[in-house]
Amino acid sequence: MSRTRLTAEQLRSHRWFGVDNLRSFGHKSRAKQMGFDAQDYAGKPVIGIVNTWSDINPCHTHFRQRAEDVKRGVWQAGGFPLELPAMSLSEPFQKPTTMLYRNLLAMETEELLRSYPIDGCVLMGGCDKTTPGLIMGATSVDVPSIFLPAGPMLKGRWKGTTLGSGSDTWKYWAQKRAGIIGDKEWGEIEDGIARSPGHCMTMGTASTMTAAAEALGLTLSGGSSIPAAFSNHPQLAVATGRRVVDMVWDDLRPREVLTREAFENAIAVVMAMGGSTNSVIHLVAMAGRAEVELPLELFDDASRKVPVLANIRPSGEYLMEDFFDAGGLRGLMAELGELLHREALTVNGQSLGENIEGAEIHDPDVIRRRDNPLSEQGGLAVLRGSLAPDGCVIKTTAASPHLLQHKGRALVFDSYDDMDARIDAEDLDVDENTVLVLRGAGPLGGPGMPEWGMLPIPKRLLEKGVTDMVRISDARMSGTSYGTCVLHVAPESFAGGPLALVRDGDLIELDVPGRRLDVHVSDDELERRRAQWQPPEPVFTRGYGKLFGKHITQADKGCDFDFLSGAGGAPEPAIH
Ligand code: FES
Repeated sequence: MSRTRLTAEQLRSHRWFGVDNLRSFGHKSRAKQMGFDAQDYAGKPVIGIVNTWSDINPCHTHFRQRAEDVKRGVWQAGGFPLELPAMSLSEPFQKPTTMLYRNLLAMETEELLRSYPIDGCVLMGGCDKTTPGLIMGATSVDVPSIFLPAGPMLKGRWKGTTLGSGSDTWKYWAQKRAGIIGDKEWGEIEDGIARSPGHCMTMGTASTMTAAAEALGLTLSGGSSIPAAFSNHPQLAVATGRRVVDMVWDDLRPREVLTREAFENAIAVVMAMGGSTNSVIHLVAMAGRAEVELPLELFDDASRKVPVLANIRPSGEYLMEDFFDAGGLRGLMAELGELLHREALTVNGQSLGENIEGAEIHDPDVIRRRDNPLSEQGGLAVLRGSLAPDGCVIKTTAASPHLLQHKGRALVFDSYDDMDARIDAEDLDVDENTVLVLRGAGPLGGPGMPEWGMLPIPKRLLEKGVTDMVRISDARMSGTSYGTCVLHVAPESFAGGPLALVRDGDLIELDVPGRRLDVHVSDDELERRRAQWQPPEPVFTRGYGKLFGKHITQADKGCDFDFLSGAGGAPEPAIH
């Protein structure tokens, strides 16, 4: 499709560099202070490289060099690259959870792009919340934007076996608690599980969201599957830098790409990847920035239609490095065929269908054919019922089939600390049919909705060989976790949802085929309990946390701030 090209005078940066006044004198003299001259910037698109590199983010250790690779591409294409460091959300280190800060990164990205002379941007992210945070901000300001995914790290290794981020941590931690492995083995696993730059290489939130970004059309085709340590990755960075310059001249903006069809493609890909439940929250929030509504039922509908094709842990067997070798996301999307909107526009100016034309699957055990899927249906189910009037989700592919229809008595923990203090007690009143309930872990209660949803199996049941139980919470769960864990219960307990009213011994019924989650307590009794319920005190009384507590929406609305939905509305900055 041919597009009308912008002129240099139509660039946003023209107001900073292209005019002849007192302020532009300041901009140009200060550019010279940085060692640039008119040859570098005059009449060229200014490309902001929003880089979430940080010393404390192990998934982005290669981003300093990748930013240089992006700059090389921008220079090649006649742009003027400027790197803009942004808050890094480091999943392993940031507490209580990076989710508390996703919206802060989104706000920072939006304001960086709006307040500086940026014509187009490269968004550098990958570690879990960095991907949605960057995309949310760029979508709201709506300058031409392209996403550069960090790429997965190499496979972990231990004694000839492969180790997957998260998934094998949980697995071997359970074995250590049960006395199957000792400190020596645990130390060896620590040495071998994270061996290179790049994000988690299981189908956690990072691999899910970078694949979703590509399916949305925001990444160069095939980019999200490339391992960070492969030389294809710097090549991708250079090509991304080259491409964004053309996107500026073509005035190809995120909101043209982020249509309803694009989000439906992303949801289908998440299902086919056996993706993380976190993607539900992030995609709803990202769509909100593009003014596209994504009701939870859209995810459930897609889950019924789309088979799981990616045989990747925790739902499957392999890791992202294998997925890349087997044909990557292009191969998987080609196999999805009519389940995708192939006409959807992507950042390279071509349609999704054109991008995946001729893509092949080289190993049909890693990327399954549709006639031999890992699972006939996608991995997520959306449930509603008396315990979750506004919905909740369960990753069915990570759950035990025999627990998908289950009735059991509740054992309730009021907080993570309460659970941590009691879960391994010898006298805990629990058996394998008990339903473990954790509350106080939602967007407000956590706060920030930490990934506490995979409650540990009580030690005395672990020792009896119990490996899974029904667990319910208003928390999230890492995409690398597994088990029959019902998550994102909305409204959360902190906000007075029914989860706040459940007591030990109440009968809870989980019916995944019927898409229900109910507590069998009479309405009168629930009302009596509600009358006694006291809303908890806000956790934060100042700063960003206070803003978060006042404006965060519930999980079914994507946990965005209520004042950040949608694009536009904010004026271009005055330059006086
Ligand atoms: Fe960064 Fe998992 S810790 S993606």
